[in-house]
Order: sequence, then structure tokens, then C-alpha cells
Amino acid sequence: MTRRPLPPSVAFEAAENEGSNPSSAPTLGDMVAARLSRRDLMQGLVAVSVATEALWPRALMAASPDGASAPFDFPELAVAPASETHHVAEGYDADILIRWGDAVLPDAPAFVPGKPDAAAQTKQFGYNNDFLGFIPLDGASDHGLLVVNHEYTNGELMFPGIAPRSDKDADFAAVTREIVDAEMMAHGGSVIEIRRTDGKWQVIPNSKYARRITADTEIAISGPAAGHARMKTKDDSTGTRVRGMLNNCAGGVTPWGTWLTCEENFNGYFWSKAAAEPLTLEARALRRYGAPAQWYAWGRFHDRFDTLKEPNEPNRFGWVVEIDPLDPASTPVKRTAMGRFKHEGAGNIVNRDGRFVVYQGDDERFDYVYRFVTEGTVDTTNRTANKDLLDRGTLYVARFNADGTGQWLPLVHGNANKDGQVWINEANGFKDQGDVLIHARLAADLLGATRMDRPEDIDVNPKTGKVYLMLTNNSKRKIDEVDAANPRAGNKFGHIIEITPDGGDHAAPSFTWDILLKCGSPEIAEVGATFNPATSKNGWFGMPDNCTVDAEGRLWVATDGNSPKGTGRNDGIWAIETEGAGRGTSRCFFQVPTGAEMCGPCFTPDLETFFVAVQHPGETEDNGPVSTFEAPITRWPDFEDGTPPRPSIVAITRKGGGKIAG
Ligand code: FEO
Ligand code: CA
Ligand code: CA
Ligand code: CA
Repeated sequence: MTRRPLPPSVAFEAAENEGSNPSSAPTLGDMVAARLSRRDLMQGLVAVSVATEALWPRALMAASPDGASAPFDFPELAVAPASETHHVAEGYDADILIRWGDAVLPDAPAFVPGKPDAAAQTKQFGYNNDFLGFIPLDGASDHGLLVVNHEYTNGELMFPGIAPRSDKDADFAAVTREIVDAEMMAHGGSVIEIRRTDGKWQVIPNSKYARRITADTEIAISGPAAGHARMKTKDDSTGTRVRGMLNNCAGGVTPWGTWLTCEENFNGYFWSKAAAEPLTLEARALRRYGAPAQWYAWGRFHDRFDTLKEPNEPNRFGWVVEIDPLDPASTPVKRTAMGRFKHEGAGNIVNRDGRFVVYQGDDERFDYVYRFVTEGTVDTTNRTANKDLLDRGTLYVARFNADGTGQWLPLVHGNANKDGQVWINEANGFKDQGDVLIHARLAADLLGATRMDRPEDIDVNPKTGKVYLMLTNNSKRKIDEVDAANPRAGNKFGHIIEITPDGGDHAAPSFTWDILLKCGSPEIAEVGATFNPATSKNGWFGMPDNCTVDAEGRLWVATDGNSPKGTGRNDGIWAIETEGAGRGTSRCFFQVPTGAEMCGPCFTPDLETFFVAVQHPGETEDNGPVSTFEAPITRWPDFEDGTPPRPSIVAITRKGGGKIAG
């Protein structure tokens, strides 16, 4: 029997599709409970304050006092079937800024297609660019640092002789130590210094800020789980140092100019056999996090990725990492107070009381939405005073009620689930707060959090204070598992939820929520999509994934999984109106080349440049031909024989200058 080979992103999707959350769903009764129009309720709310005294980017991102989002103004891109290259709306240029293998560090060797070279890769731009954050230098919008996540690698497109995941079936026979080490160095992140001259962006060579973080970079562990017994390994008897960060997906930038980069599917890097029943607490926790999943051969050459040899190593991944790009000598830090799960992003805002609030999704089917609120306040005059702000605070998990209200349930040792009086304590496997954070998913299970349809990115509108949550899909949700916040069984196309914090207070214990959009084709009645009828045939999409809200309060969504089996159209960027009569109207702005997903939407503060990340171009599509280094379905963006497709960042600017979309 031939098993169809799967590329890594499909493996990730498949794993997320399983879900590992056994806790029971709310009943159908919740769903059918009378639910008044959310908008009626909203109208009774006091206008949300936007008193965000952010140190950055306040100076450049002046919030208007009206609290309303600006309209979009651009000619809609006509969606076309997947093609070899990208497409952008008329009147815009989309230029390649940097590609996998391009120089980051000063002495980086030139990119050589098909040759695994770990030493070269540590100095070159990594693979599968995902989150992008722009940090202005001297307040400029035409000169700054771009921080970039490198989520994972596609060995079958990087090197010859590897079929997508068929190597797993053959015990990774074709994957050599050389390849593994190059893969490890292609993970992590990059910091590049960029400048716009005569309208075009360029990477500044030999920048003092240039930096690569890899799966081997020394990273500190801080916060309540630092030094915990579950964090100690043979290499690190202190439980405070770890080598590398893994599967860094989305992220955020703080007002003090640090980069929050979030570890997602870390389970895929661990090797070994899963434990047999009956499960110990440790084995139960590993299973809840899906480890070991053995999607890579790293465990064959590096003992720390073998869970039998180093059982605590998985506990040291799945965190938010804070990096100071302005200080290239600084040690990145895993902030354990923010919890361990499959982090998607870290959308954030300075609350009106000065505390810093980070919204976070745990991207797996039936997993949760989290919020972290710092104990201390942001110092807007002295950035170094915020150095350890993220080490103390409270992690919460969301419950979405059927009546359009919701609660943030604190994940604090000794706390109870008020309904069932189940305590987070030793009897339930949590000796201390370190246990609660390391096994955050298990603690959240006890509290009765709402099991969501794969929470991907989440972002705050700086002008209105509303929070937008992308729920990408969940084809496994059964009819008796639907609830008001996840209202479709077999949710193939995902939806977007809008959260309004009570009283405009992002630290408040409760919130209200509404579904902004149910995605998918409006032309197929059974899909149940709810795009505004003003949306054209080009404007609808499925599978919202990453998002950003620009300085004028406009929501932009990047998608993953539309083509060709999903919706028949290609992934890209869509602009969605959130207010007034146009609410729920969507328009296409950019489309990726075949096989890619769209990541990293990020604006310069002046809104004149829109950076987007094209991830895994040329990856094998569902129902499509197998795409490999030797025979890729596209060679974007170089289109040279012998050069495989290369994940790249694209800088979108308006022809003749001016703001994106008006
Ligand atoms: Fe890496 Fe959930 O996307
Ligand atoms: Ca991805
Ligand atoms: Ca994503
Ligand atoms: Ca996705």
C-alpha cells in the first residue's frame, strides 16, 4: 500500500485536526439558548476607551479620538486559480525583500541550492517566514528592524532526495545528520535592518542589529516555571537555560520594542514511542500536547529530542519568547508566566491602568483562547524598566457563554472552577504554579474553558479596543458539540469572533462577544457563510489565520488552506470592514503563489508599506502533484532551473507613494 506523502504543513494541520482535548463540550442547550443580537447589547455599552499610553508606536500611530475605523480604498484584486507567482491589487508594487538563504549576518556565504550546510544556514535567512514585526529606528517609517519568525522546514523542497514525509515511513532513511542540522539552523528567527530609499526597500548589509536565532541558540527561562523540577534536564540541571526555540508561528511587538515570538507545534520535533496505558501524569500531559509526534528526524541524532532519553525536554518548548532586537547581545527569554501551549500569536495592548495585556490563541482543534495580564505597569519613559514585566502576572482562559457574554478564568494554583468546584491543586496533579503553567492545557480543562475551532491569531484594534480572534476551522466538531461561539458542525472554513472587554478594560474579568464573520463561499447555502452581501465574488475567503489591525483601525486577514481542495481559491490577504453598514464586507488585496500560505501581515507606522510573508511556496497541495526539490510546482520567486521555491518576504507599496488602501 502506498501512503500518500504529506508535506509538513499538512502534517501540522492533520495533527491539529485530531485535537487532544478530551474535556466535554457544552451542550446543545447552550447553543439553542435564546441569543439576542449582539449589536443590540453593544449599543448599551459605554464607548470603549483607547487610553493606551504606549511608549511605541504611539508617536507614529496616533489613535484618533473618535474610536472609529477608517474605510478601505483600493481596487479589489480579482481572485484567480493558484498560479506560479503572487498577485497584488492594481496600483501597488509587491517586491521581494529577502528570501530563504539570503545573507543576514555579515559573513554569510552565498546561497547554494540543494546543499545542506548548517554553518552557512546559521548566518542566512531561515525557512518558512511567518510573523513579521517592524520596529522603527529613530521613529522612522522608512528605516527600522524587521523581526521574522522561521516556523518550520520543508526538507522535500530544500534538499534533493527527500519525498514529503515519506521519509518518516522509512524511518527518515534519507535524512542525514547534515540535513537535520541544516533544518535546525533554518528554524527560529531573524532580525534584519531595512531601509526604504527612492521608494524601494533593501536589507542593510553588515548591520550591527543583524541576528539569527536558531533551534540551538542559548535562551533563558524565566518566570514561575523557571527552575521547576519538570524543566530540568541532563544538559541543564538548573531548569533555567534551553537551547533553541521551535515552530515559532505568530507573535507580537511590545510597546517597549521587544519581539514576542511564539512556539506552536513543538510536539512535532520530539521522537520516540508514545507511552502505553495506563498513563502516568507525565504521559497524560505529553499526550494532551501531542508529543512525541516524530515529524522530524532530529531525535535520531540529538538525544534531547528523544522523550525516552530526555523526558523533560518537551516541557521547555511551547512558550512565548521575548527578544530585544535593539540589543543584539541580549539573551532571548522564555516567559513562563504566559503559559505553555501551542501558541499562535501575542496580540497586545497597554490597558488604561498601565498594565500590559496579551491575547493568545492555542491553535489546535477544541483548544482555548488565553489572556495574560501583567502585575506591574508599563514604564513609558524607561524601556529597560519593562525588562521583566512579563515574568509576573495572571494567565486566564476564556469561557464564551451562549448569551454573548464571556469570562476570563484565572489559571492560578488553588483556584476553583466555580460551577463544578474542581480545584487546581495537588489532588488534580498541580503541586504549584509552575505545574499550572507547564500543563496550562490540563489546568484550563479543569476550569471549563470553551473548546474552540482552532484559535489562530488574535489582535486588538488600537482605535476601538475591540479584539479580533481568527478561528481557522475544525472539521471534527460534531453536531452535538456545537456551541454559540463555535456554531458550525464540521466547520471547514472557520470564523472570526469580535471580543469587547467590559467597560473598555482589557483586565476586566468579563467581556461580550459577537461573531463578525462565518467564512466560506456565500454561493453555497449549506456553508452558512455570513459575509456582507456587498462582498463581491472575489471577496469571500475561508480559513482565517494571521491578522493585523492597522493604525487606522482596519482589519486585515491572512489565510491558510484555501486552495485547491479547501475553497478552490488561493490564500492571500483580505481586508474586512468591521463597522457600520459595511460590517462583514471583505475584499481581496493579495494572493500567494501556488502551494503557499499567507503569513506575517505587518505595516510600517505611516501605513505606506505592507510587509507580508509567503510561507512554504510550492508545497504539495491536497489533490495536487507531489512537489519536491527536483520537481517543484513553482520556483517562486527566482524562477531559475535548479533553484527551489524560497519562502520570502514581500514589501507592498503604492505606485507613486501614499498610504496603503487610502
Ligand atoms: Fe503556525 Fe497555527 O499556524
Ligand atoms: Ca504556518
Ligand atoms: Ca498561523
Ligand atoms: Ca493555519
